[in-house]
Amino acid sequence: MYDMILKGGMCATVGGIIQTDIAIKAGKIAEIGDIDPAKAESVMDVTGLHVLPGVIDSQVHFREPGLEHKEDLSTGTAGAALGGVTAVFEMPNTKPSTITAKDMADKCRRAKDRVWTDIAFFIGAAAENADKLHELEREQGVSGVKIFMGSSTGSLLVKDDATLASVLANGTRRVAVHCEDEDRLNERFSMVEGGAPVKMHAKWRDAQTAFLATQRLLKIAKGVKRRVHILHVTTAEEMELLPSYKDIATVECTPQHLTLNDEAYDRLGTKAQMNPPIRSQRHVDALWQAVNQGVVDCIGSDHAPHTLEEKSRPYPNSPSGMTGVQTLVPVMLNHVNNSKLSLERFVDLTSTGPCRIYNVAGKGRIAKGYDADFTIVDMKAQRIITDNWIASRCGWTPYDGMKVQGWPISTIVRGHVVMHEDQLIGDPIGDAVRFAECL
Ligand code: DOR
Repeated sequence: MYDMILKGGMCATVGGIIQTDIAIKAGKIAEIGDIDPAKAESVMDVTGLHVLPGVIDSQVHFREPGLEHKEDLSTGTAGAALGGVTAVFEMPNTKPSTITAKDMADKCRRAKDRVWTDIAFFIGAAAENADKLHELEREQGVSGVKIFMGSSTGSLLVKDDATLASVLANGTRRVAVHCEDEDRLNERFSMVEGGAPVKMHAKWRDAQTAFLATQRLLKIAKGVKRRVHILHVTTAEEMELLPSYKDIATVECTPQHLTLNDEAYDRLGTKAQMNPPIRSQRHVDALWQAVNQGVVDCIGSDHAPHTLEEKSRPYPNSPSGMTGVQTLVPVMLNHVNNSKLSLERFVDLTSTGPCRIYNVAGKGRIAKGYDADFTIVDMKAQRIITDNWIASRCGWTPYDGMKVQGWPISTIVRGHVVMHEDQLIGDPIGDAVRFAECL
């Protein structure tokens, strides 16, 4: 007997998107094909829906410990599950920053019995832990090392080439990097210091700020032969450079950099403020070109919640970041429906891509023996994204009022239905994501 059968859906299998049934047993995919419903404890009729491999959001900030007034592991993963996401990789700029084995063990302990999706955590790179990173990157529950080359939320920073080289030389797993050049940020800060309109954010942290850091990183990474993952790439110039480095560098884009342009500053004020910034349409067009030419390897949301009260401080004292984990799937499916990318490419960017980049073990494919993680979506459903729907503790989205077509109907994590028709189901059964290099 199987535990459950998904009956009659259009399934994104390794052989293409086909109508078939999927049987689940003990949290794994047990069979794909025409399956007798009498052979299972339960049957979910998914006729008319698409069954996709579980969406993995490989960049979220869930704020626990230390900043739980913005978010915690429970509210953050609730938003993920409601948005059709089955696993998340959480960033280290919490309070304290996640830079020691003890910090990492603390996060894993906090996640136990409280998270709605599977989860892994990044270890932050800093001058004080650079010589220990080869051990730290192998701790239980770690998705990899994260470097901030420019100051953002929190205190993590690796700003000079010597420290960067020592961080990259110490370890073997792929390193995720926020590329903004700290020296250029400091040189130009006078442009906004003391108050400025928020649209100056994209002028202060300009395209050259991002390009310089990415260029420096790629050169050093190539020299020390270390694989890197460039987070939230935002500029046409970086997308010109990156194809020459595909042997060592993978690339992330966020839904917001693909969806919003600098018009958003007038409409949304500081809600549109994030690092690296939302930029002009010229850059947005270049990002789409990079998506469609395969330069981009994955979509991560950079979910970075701040309260409305914090966001209402006058710029530049307002914090950078916006929510995104719950809206990644509907916003990107809306782009699929608008022919900006195919559904196959969506799966490549949100399941296959993150697994290839980080060597995730046993996830990201609808294939026998893999974890039974599914994002089940209705490509025809038309909905309006509202602040009300957002489970994040900060309770807002930059997409409030946006009409979309394409909506997550069910989220299944290792055979457990954790969300169905906009409701969380059962208990938070999320567990640690496993990685092939650390089994
Ligand atoms: O806008 C951002 N917010 N960019 C980051 O790099 C960090 C994030 C946060 O944690 O708030």
